[in-house]
Amino acid sequence: MRVILVTGKGGVGKTTVAAATAVLAADRGYRVLISSTDPAHSLADALDQKLGDVESEILPRLWGQQIDTQSQLDRHWGSIRDQIMQVFDWGGVSGIEAEEFLVFPGMDELFALLEVERHATSGRYDAIIVDCAPTAETLRLLSLPEVLSWYFERVMPAERRIMRAARPLLTRLTDLPVPEDNVFQAAQSVFEGVEKVKALLANPQVTSARLVVNPEKMVIDEARRTFTYLGLFGYGVDGVIVNRVLPDIVSDPYFDRWRSIQKGHLEAIDSGFADVPRLRLRLFDDEMVGIDRLRTMSEELYGAQDPVRDFAGHSPFRVTERGGEVTMEMKVPFVDKGELDVFRHGSELYLQVGPYRRSFVLPDTLRRRQVTRAKLDKGTLRVNFGPVPTRKKK
Ligand SMILES: Nc1ncnc2c1ncn2[C@@H]1O[C@H](COP(=O)(O)OP(=O)(O)O)[C@@H](O)[C@H]1O
Ligand SMILES: [Mg+2]
Repeated sequence: MRVILVTGKGGVGKTTVAAATAVLAADRGYRVLISSTDPAHSLADALDQKLGDVESEILPRLWGQQIDTQSQLDRHWGSIRDQIMQVFDWGGVSGIEAEEFLVFPGMDELFALLEVERHATSGRYDAIIVDCAPTAETLRLLSLPEVLSWYFERVMPAERRIMRAARPLLTRLTDLPVPEDNVFQAAQSVFEGVEKVKALLANPQVTSARLVVNPEKMVIDEARRTFTYLGLFGYGVDGVIVNRVLPDIVSDPYFDRWRSIQKGHLEAIDSGFADVPRLRLRLFDDEMVGIDRLRTMSEELYGAQDPVRDFAGHSPFRVTERGGEVTMEMKVPFVDKGELDVFRHGSELYLQVGPYRRSFVLPDTLRRRQVTRAKLDKGTLRVNFGPVPTRKKK
């Protein structure tokens, strides 16, 4: 079972590449689901098929789905929201304000991920190709499980305990609608889903991200940052797909300047992403819409290679032990020392790059050790933990 997230800046060709990959994978015998989490409904256009919130069969072995985040949200979050809304209502907060408070940014997208997780564990598919929203939203989405599990682990249990104790009293004293325990149960099941999503996406044997770029300066700059953030959250990038490369047969002098610009950028991509396989795809002379064209495209892109396998074959994250010291190692390329912050708070280790922060709840084996060093070297961050302190006998 493989999950392939196709991501990149807006307009680079994510949907087209995702759909092409799915068609080829199905042609080659995999049972494939292509799922779009992008609210811009362009997957259906690329495939030239109708798609709904529930997956439908497009070709033998190929199913497609346009996840409707709003209906997913209503389904999973509805009861929780309704109850909390009552409290707001009681407090005189208008419906719209309350709604804004309860549906935090990325909330709807989270349910799209829960949907992907559900399919991944259904046993019905060998590969799920996810056509993601443009990078900023996707990164927010992919960092959500991390942020939410932090929240759920700390805030929810305490709130639930307090409410259990206070409910009888509150109901007697006031007419404040107090959340029922089943609200917490619903939240708990969302939390469990989030944990499963995290386990699925951070497993490099299962999930890989493919970054689509064009040989253009702004696109490459953004791709480098995306690559870093994906690494930070432990998502392995197994390939960079360089789309819209001017083919050699274009000899019109009008494009000479373009060709030389692209040449420079292609070199930058090759050196910047040297660790990851890069696949080039030409600018076609046609709109790449419909199954047949997508098939042509993906055959050119992957050739004899298996479109589903993990191209990189290595994890962005490693823990090694040597001479009593433990080293946590992760690839965070394109980061300057000044942008990276590593700090520890109790049993947690925090890594911050730009606006994104990841917390690691340290396993027991590391909890008692001191962080002795954190060093960034050629795109790899190594955090060293010293030996387990030995207790002196009295
Ligand atoms: N290599 C290519 N050659 C020609 N047209 C392409 C190519 N890649 C993408 N396109 C076209 O570019 C447009 C935008 O692509 P799309 O996949 O929707 O981008 P994104 O999902 O990244 O926003 C579509 O009309 C698509 O058919
Ligand atoms: Mg798209």
